[in-house]
Amino acid sequence: MSLDLIDLRSDTTRSPAEPVLRAMLSGGSSATGELEEYCAALFGKESGLFMPSGTMSNQVALKVLAGRGREVLCDAGNHLNVFDASPAADLGGVAINAVDTPDGFLRPSAVSAAMSRRAGGLIWTENTMSARGGRVYPLALLADLRRWSARHGITVYLDGARILHAVAATGITPAVWGATSDVLALSLTKGLGAPLGSVLLGTADFIGAARDHRRWHGGALRQRGPFAAAALWALRHHSARLAEDHANAALFASVLAGSPLFGVTPPDTNIVLLDVSGVGCPSAEFVARAADAGVRMLARRGDSVRAVFDHRTSAHGARRAAERLITVAGQLKPAGAPAPARLRWWYRIDSSYPATVTAQMHSRTWA
Ligand SMILES: Cc1ncc(COP(=O)(O)O)c(C=O)c1O
Repeated sequence: MSLDLIDLRSDTTRSPAEPVLRAMLSGGSSATGELEEYCAALFGKESGLFMPSGTMSNQVALKVLAGRGREVLCDAGNHLNVFDASPAADLGGVAINAVDTPDGFLRPSAVSAAMSRRAGGLIWTENTMSARGGRVYPLALLADLRRWSARHGITVYLDGARILHAVAATGITPAVWGATSDVLALSLTKGLGAPLGSVLLGTADFIGAARDHRRWHGGALRQRGPFAAAALWALRHHSARLAEDHANAALFASVLAGSPLFGVTPPDTNIVLLDVSGVGCPSAEFVARAADAGVRMLARRGDSVRAVFDHRTSAHGARRAAERLITVAGQLKPAGAPAPARLRWWYRIDSSYPATVTAQMHSRTWA
């Protein structure tokens, strides 16, 4: 009997849904401008620029906002530092100053202490924070950071690949989130279902410079009309439903929390990090066994496993995935081995960053 596969590896579109493809076919040459204006108005910025990927948005922003020899200060767990530090050094010539914060949130005191030279520096933030289980950056902290940065003449950039997840989770409008940075990029693929793309948002001057750099990076993409049309459709029709993914992630986490073998914290959004130290095997092996049982996830370093929810997984699928994992864990755990300490109210901040303080009291309750 073949198992139906529940794929929780990523929320990045692999094959767009049919209505998105239909929108793509109907997209004309005006779609890119429409998309850019729609996003700029949504986030309260002057101008927008369609980009082929989030990676290119980030690299172009580094070029325009920082530039060669300049310092970019971010949390050590940010996507930029974990995955794109090398291209940032090679293409942008920037020096990344990664700060180990206990919770991913850069506070003015930490920035002030870490910045070697303020002039020309750039502060980098990420919301929601991918490596920290889709955690939402508290608005008050971001606003505080922006005020402090403005006083010191430092630009703030937001890697908002999943900023619409923060919107769906908090009910805080995109324009309010938009005001917490000078420039931001949002992804059109993460959870939304567009086939590709990202939009950079900022002042008209910034966007003018970014347009040049987009071309130099090979991203002018003259065929972008249909992709922009698909993205516009996905933004209009899928932004509100991201809350369903959050509910499914919470359901998955709450079922797993019923087993003593998993350490799990209630997720803020659509990403669940599992501590599988109680299962008795490395995360890669657990992930392989879970895949055999029809649940695909990503193994992270140490005992951490990532499960991500998007429109392809229903509430039924989320529950079934959790139940399958409990079965697999029960088969793997040696009989008679003591149950591990429950981590339910504690969570590892990020087991892949050893220098980071690894645990803090988590005071939220299950919804
Ligand atoms: C926070 C964050 N920023 C940037 C990116 C890069 O986006 P893309 O895959 O569109 O290049 C990702 C991708 O996973 C991400 O999670």
